[in-house]
Amino acid sequence: MQRMAKIISAVSILNADFTDIGFAVKTAEEAGADWIHLDVMDGGFVPNISFGAKMVADIHKRTRLPLDVHLMIENPENQIEAFALAGASSITVHAEASVHSHRLLQAVKSLGACAGICITPATPPSALEYLLPLADLVLVMTVNPGFGGQKLIPECLNKIQTLKEMRASLQDGRKDFLISVDGGVKEKNSRLVRENGADVLVVGSAFFEAPDKQAFLKSVCGRA
Ligand code: DX5
Ligand code: ZN
Repeated sequence: MQRMAKIISAVSILNADFTDIGFAVKTAEEAGADWIHLDVMDGGFVPNISFGAKMVADIHKRTRLPLDVHLMIENPENQIEAFALAGASSITVHAEASVHSHRLLQAVKSLGACAGICITPATPPSALEYLLPLADLVLVMTVNPGFGGQKLIPECLNKIQTLKEMRASLQDGRKDFLISVDGGVKEKNSRLVRENGADVLVVGSAFFEAPDKQAFLKSVCGRA
């Protein structure tokens, strides 16, 4: 995935009204969201259930924005094809969810989607060393996954700098990936997240709570 000069906003619809998801997607689109972030939870890997591939396929019919699918599920290898067929632009799996993350990233790429790898607050970036040459996106969780509306854990932001250093050494081999930050990103902490070096900011509850959503995204991305 190509890094851009500007920060990418990825609006998570997890905290939107699921009875009117088309409206939520349209709201994000009209506010200037760059991506739609889709949090898939199975009640096993995380203690919450959200939605599956059909939701992604239905959203795909409603928007041309890239669909950034974040799989918080056990046995992700059984599901990646369904999400690729549903129209996911990127499929991100958790390093903690599979013993065979390396094979999984290869499989995501062979399905034609960008391959993302995610770490929870407990996992160090060093766990990704042998996966980074395959990754298009690295998702740094700044909350424990499972729910929207949690408070950002600031210690997790240190991981961004480490990942940037790891990326710089890979770039000798001309490999690039985006660093995305997910969980508890609000207007008031967004500058800190950007200054640490994030390329993509996932915003969920703070977006849907913002009275002026366009101004919110501009501010969060440092474009205000
Ligand atoms: C948490 C999800 C996040 C989250 C973002 O498990 O991966 O994408 O919903 O929502 P906020 O911005 O409310 O933390
Ligand atoms: Zn997410």
